[in-house]
Amino acid sequence: MSADELLDGLTTPEEIAKIEKSPVALVRLANILLSSGRTARAVELARRAMFLAPDDGEIQSIGAAVLRESVPGWHFFIVRDQARNAAYDAALRRNVRPGTRVLDIGAGSGLLAMMAARAGAAEVTSCEVNNAVAAMASEIVEANGFADRVKIVAKHSRDLEMGRDLDQPADLLVSEIVSNNLLGEDVLGCMENAVGRLTQADACIVPSHGAVRIALAQYDRLPRKTLGSIDGFDLSPFNRLARPRELDVGDEALTLRSAPQDLFMFDFSSGGPFDNYRSSAQLVSSGGPINGIAQWIWLRMDAHGVHENRPAPGSRSCWSVLFHPLASPIDSAPGDRHVVHGCRDRTSVWLWAERQS
Ligand SMILES: C[S@@+](CC[C@H](N)C(=O)[O-])C[C@H]1O[C@@H](n2cnc3c(N)ncnc32)[C@H](O)[C@@H]1O
Repeated sequence: MSADELLDGLTTPEEIAKIEKSPVALVRLANILLSSGRTARAVELARRAMFLAPDDGEIQSIGAAVLRESVPGWHFFIVRDQARNAAYDAALRRNVRPGTRVLDIGAGSGLLAMMAARAGAAEVTSCEVNNAVAAMASEIVEANGFADRVKIVAKHSRDLEMGRDLDQPADLLVSEIVSNNLLGEDVLGCMENAVGRLTQADACIVPSHGAVRIALAQYDRLPRKTLGSIDGFDLSPFNRLARPRELDVGDEALTLRSAPQDLFMFDFSSGGPFDNYRSSAQLVSSGGPINGIAQWIWLRMDAHGVHENRPAPGSRSCWSVLFHPLASPIDSAPGDRHVVHGCRDRTSVWLWAERQS
């Protein structure tokens, strides 16, 4: 019998019922399932074991390790981004009316769903694809006293069913499923699927738009992050394998050398389809050395508010700025023009620069 067949046999309801008599066996089985890639089942069994033995330190400790293995660490940073939170809270307060039915895509800790309820929403359905995160969001919503109006559904938004998960199409759709490059969490696919299918025709979509913003830039610490001569050997060709550098928005070594331009702009509220796969922007240098292109995100929350993680010394954001080093640094004069080209697929953005005479 293969290990997979053995595990399959062990996870039938009958076998689980037997193992439930020993929560420690259940949590250890969860750990084995996790290492064999069966995350959803592992999370389910770990939670069951933790529920059965709330005072057992061993079970709680192994169970928590199973749960957190599937939870990205950035959950702890995003909810501490006060500017991000304030932009969402203000947009929700502006657009939620008594009786508003809200759909929140990507519950995370449940923060935005609870903000919507606090703003007066009649009901909030908040979906979360990660089972461990969804379970925790339910617990948090309950503990904060919003369980009567906020329902966490442990599903991907594309699996939500009208009439089952939502009684009626939502009046307001809120989501925070944007990543450093805007697209990495498949915000485009989610909006194409959800807007119209799960929302009223005139629903308010928060954020309504998103853009990939770029500017010419100089990053003074680039040499430290770039390979050159190492032990007498030239390793510089290896730099072509480097990813764009993820920089803190407040990094003092980063200086923008042009006004920002939007390379890609998306109207999420349209529901797509989003098909501008290539784009170009002309950037005018303010003068000085330039060794890369800085890329960040801009969100229109609604008609009255915007939010972006534009780099500036001392500023903070849960999203990083992406820095794309140029093949050859430039010493530019004020007014020099540089064309930056971009292309994208559903979740990635690629950039390259061209100097104009
Ligand atoms: C960046 S976090 C935002 C969490 C929370 N809304 C907040 O703003 O603090 C995005 C969350 O959405 C979940 N997620 C992403 N796309 C989703 C989708 N289409 N349906 C359900 N959950 C999704 C991820 O697992 C993650 O927990």
